[in-house]
Amino acid sequence: SNTDVIREACQDLILDDKTLREIMSRFLCEIERGLKKKTHPQADIKCFVTYVQDLPNGKERGKFLALDLGGTNFRVLLIHLKGESDFEMQSKIYAIPQSIMLGSGTQLFDHIAECLANFIKEHKIHNERLPLGFTFSFPLKQLGLTKGYLIRWTKGFNCEGVVDHDVVELLEDALRRRGDVQIDVCAILNDTTGTLMSCAWKNHNCKIGAIVGTGSNACYVERVENCEMYDGDSKGKEHVLINTEWGAFGDNGALDFIRTEYDREIDEFSINKGKQLAEKMISGMYMGELVRLALVKFTKDGLLFGGQGSDLLFKRFQFFTKYVSEIESDKAGDYFNCYDVLEEIGILHATDEDCANVRFICECVSSRAAYLSSAGIAALINKMNDPSVTVGVDGSVYRFHPRFHDLMYSKIRELTNDHIKFDLMLSEDGSGRGAALVAAVASRQTHESD
Ligand code: BG6
Ligand code: GLC
Repeated sequence: SNTDVIREACQDLILDDKTLREIMSRFLCEIERGLKKKTHPQADIKCFVTYVQDLPNGKERGKFLALDLGGTNFRVLLIHLKGESDFEMQSKIYAIPQSIMLGSGTQLFDHIAECLANFIKEHKIHNERLPLGFTFSFPLKQLGLTKGYLIRWTKGFNCEGVVDHDVVELLEDALRRRGDVQIDVCAILNDTTGTLMSCAWKNHNCKIGAIVGTGSNACYVERVENCEMYDGDSKGKEHVLINTEWGAFGDNGALDFIRTEYDREIDEFSINKGKQLAEKMISGMYMGELVRLALVKFTKDGLLFGGQGSDLLFKRFQFFTKYVSEIESDKAGDYFNCYDVLEEIGILHATDEDCANVRFICECVSSRAAYLSSAGIAALINKMNDPSVTVGVDGSVYRFHPRFHDLMYSKIRELTNDHIKFDLMLSEDGSGRGAALVAAVASRQTHESD
């Protein structure tokens, strides 16, 4: 039957534990290469040093501004930390039109500065010179807490004139051009770092921060002595957060043995061909499109929808990742959401068998994403080898997909050493509070050394 043929053809999207363990060992190898000076330049997983070394102790206080750029939404935030898990947060989402995401760096930073200026006016804080934490969710080579050079754009961004530049300086230049905003940029950080810090504030056991959203990545607490790329003065500090940038895993071929025709097509039509290959198998920016490519193939083969598609089905990026969550939220044997989604893309002639197959394809793609991110997290947990660790997780896929958390939890359990206890904790408030905490710790250090 059509169902049998489709299930058979989907086998290469299914990763068994043996394959996942092979992926973990390749992953660990790339992590080690990223950490070492000699191999760092060629490593897929760069393991960037963040210069964030102190986890929050709960005593951080004060008012902070934060920028959060690189996820689904660009946000400006005002965070008031009052100590001991007590805080207030106001935030506003600002749109970044695609013309700016693909325009010049100057346009991008002028736009960010303008949004910040408007926010400051609206909240009547233009007379306070507040510290700001900048969550900038792209790979940075950092030279300190306030100096970070962009290595490459990822996800949907590709602004000219930013790669190889210090992003803090570009923001400060834009603020200077306006002349109406008085702030101190205290720290630039990745969203994984923000997530880890935000969770660590409430849960001192949090030592990994992971994102499965538009993009995918993780950071973890590493011992300074293992970081050959760390060239700061560690001032007796034992640890430093490492931003793995695991989205680039596979860029040198390490994942070719599991990549499918759909993965190759996604890459072919992306704005960053040959780059971020693991990210393209895991994250929300591509998940719906992976499903769509499989649907197109099976439709053309006459195995779905009686061989009849629709204009939207054949249009790139028109099968949204949220559809995958909706379809998998249907109760067993019921295809309520599935029929809705298919109707939305103009397919009105689907049968129950089609729906069962569509759901199966969604499950293959989302489980593979969950298992690949689990392999990454499990490898980090085993490497750290602490008796217990909490993983802070954020991102729209983890947050909204009905089975993602459970799939990850059980797979990480299978892939980690038995004696290790772990937990996955959703970062409820995003990484804005994490940015404030990094800024707070940074300004605390400035005061301490005064
Ligand atoms: C948000 C964080 O909650 O999640 C961002 O505040 C982060 O910093 C984002 O980038 C990741 O998820 P998504 O799905 O918006 O890319
Ligand atoms: C991309 C970025 C990375 C970020 C991740 C999640 O992989 O390169 O810095 O953490 O997306 O947003």
